[in-house]
Amino acid sequence: MGNVIIMDHPLIQHKIGLIRRKETGTKDFRQTIGEIAMLICYEATRNLQLDDVEIETPICKTKVKALKGKKMAIVPILRAGLGMVDGMLQMIPAAKVGHIGLYRDPQTLKPIEYYCKLPADCAEREVFVVDPMLATGGSSVAAIQMLKDRGCRNIHFMCIIAAPEGVKAMREAHPDVDIYIGAMDEKLNDHGYIVPGLGDAGDRIFGTK
Ligand code: PRP
Ligand code: URA
Repeated sequence: MGNVIIMDHPLIQHKIGLIRRKETGTKDFRQTIGEIAMLICYEATRNLQLDDVEIETPICKTKVKALKGKKMAIVPILRAGLGMVDGMLQMIPAAKVGHIGLYRDPQTLKPIEYYCKLPADCAEREVFVVDPMLATGGSSVAAIQMLKDRGCRNIHFMCIIAAPEGVKAMREAHPDVDIYIGAMDEKLNDHGYIVPGLGDAGDRIFGTK
């Protein structure tokens, strides 16, 4: 069974407070989303396994720790997930990046799939799916199903703001997946937006509204 981990780091909480404000403009919103992604990535990679490796410093031989070598992939859900990729890559620069294109139909709130391009060896990688918003859970449930259909098994999901409805949907559909959440909000409104939330993440990152 995967875990649900809600971040309690003060820097993450402070920065989420900045992006929630309606007066925060595109430039600051985008930059801060990247910073939060980097911090959540730091917390979400806490349990990666390490090996002892023998090396030589300029002084003598010694043993150091090195990541066990399981290769990683970052998979943003388009569009808004793109805003988290650079921050993630600053922490794990050797990761490969796949893309899954989904948008929510504004009437039905159901996810519509329009793109999927993954690293060729994605099934052997530890995969971090990123999307700032987990609302009804339709998009993340569908994205993770697309990854499983292509053989991926070691999957983690990272978001910045989650609604309880989305977490429940994810737990029911993908109980094996760890979920890392920047902040857990109260509920969804009648239009499927997270309350208090931050509005439409894609529009705020790309300045499209
Ligand atoms: C937003 C967000 C998630 C989805 C969450 O994307 O980035 O992907 O909604 O909602 P859900 O949990 O109810 O599926 P949106 O559909 O607005 O597409 P966009 O990123 O292309 O703007
Ligand atoms: N997608 C968003 O971008 N924001 C929400 O509050 C819900 C879904």
